[in-house]
Amino acid sequence: MKCKICSANTDLVIDFGPMPIANGFIKSNDQDEYTFPMTVNFCPVCKMVQLGETVPPEKMFNDDYQFLSSTSTAMAKHFEMIARHLICELKNKEDPFVVELGCNDGIMLKHVAQSSIRHLGVEPSGNVARMARENGVEVTSEFFHARTAKKIIDQYGNADVIGGSNVFCHIEDINSVFEGIALLLKEDGTLYFEDPYIYDIIQKTSFDQIYDEHVYYYSGHSVQALGRRHGLELVDMLHQDVHGGSMRYILKKSGAQQPSERVKDWLQKERVLKLDQLEGYLDFKDRVDRISKTLNQKLSELKQMGERVVGYGATSKSTTLLNYAKVDASLVEYISDTTPNKINKLTPRTHIPIKPYEEFSRDHVNYTLLLAWNHEKEIRAKEEQYINRGGKFITFFPEVEIK
Ligand code: TYD
Repeated sequence: MKCKICSANTDLVIDFGPMPIANGFIKSNDQDEYTFPMTVNFCPVCKMVQLGETVPPEKMFNDDYQFLSSTSTAMAKHFEMIARHLICELKNKEDPFVVELGCNDGIMLKHVAQSSIRHLGVEPSGNVARMARENGVEVTSEFFHARTAKKIIDQYGNADVIGGSNVFCHIEDINSVFEGIALLLKEDGTLYFEDPYIYDIIQKTSFDQIYDEHVYYYSGHSVQALGRRHGLELVDMLHQDVHGGSMRYILKKSGAQQPSERVKDWLQKERVLKLDQLEGYLDFKDRVDRISKTLNQKLSELKQMGERVVGYGATSKSTTLLNYAKVDASLVEYISDTTPNKINKLTPRTHIPIKPYEEFSRDHVNYTLLLAWNHEKEIRAKEEQYINRGGKFITFFPEVEIK
């Protein structure tokens, strides 16, 4: 398999076998389900960890796209903080212009809009773009590349800030996005993007981050190499406690700013885990297999004991975990979720029914598989009553635990 960034030969890290689309929730058991052979590969030249085969974007990001950013209060705060930071940084600039790629329902840009800062969201999924518009955000509904960049420059001029959260990892032709960014960004402009960090994934064995939508699993090393291909330098790295551990990368046009000490520190930490070599990824598959087997065993034991188990949060990431660990509706009765368009659907291929949150709150189960583990703090605080009456959560990274 050739590297999608630099065309070098890559090495296989793990083969998950056929996997469905992570957000491909279905309406009935007999519905056809698309699958693709999911592997993860490492490029020894540009250090990018990436999916081998990918799924055409139209199959993932269409008008049925179920993912909404505004489902957690912690995430809403996180995006508001990004916006506050941007607004503060831009306050001395004359008529600044902010572009956000994959603005989703406007969770971040609505704050920028409320501060009357010129902005544009680029959001290919029509249904979520409409929600962003309803939130007062100016949006163009299309994919971003060099041609889109030229169109934006003609209409709005160059950008002071270009950003994206949990979107750069989605875009296979990321070289064309960087080409567009290099055109659109002002000479002293800033590019920031954040995505799940490979360091956290490897350290915690959080393999559920690996699914069709996540083509790339960035590191400081791979972002530095990618930026340099396009005349951009990685100047800062800010670790974020969201999505199970993310990294915010800050890039500037080459020569505009010296990399911070933090960049040097993170690159060193990555070298300690050997994430710049295949060696750092060699025992990942064994750890993934151990967790999957243990989880399946524990759920089967609970079932044999006559216990009911339900799931919490029909996350995209749970599609990988449930499918790889072979956890289906025979082991997990239903999954509760607060997202209206997931309710009454079934999880991809494992066919676990998704029920409204109210069902969970009035049900008296003792065991809950915490599929939205990235929101554990928020959920444990919200579910004080469940915990106080003896309810337990089952978590699985870095080891399966019932607590
Ligand atoms: P998310 O964290 O975005 O993960 P992913 O990117 O893997 O989809 O998804 C969280 C899901 O969990 C979303 O469907 C909403 C649901 N959820 C609840 O049902 N209740 C909650 O309290 C929280 C925080 C999330």
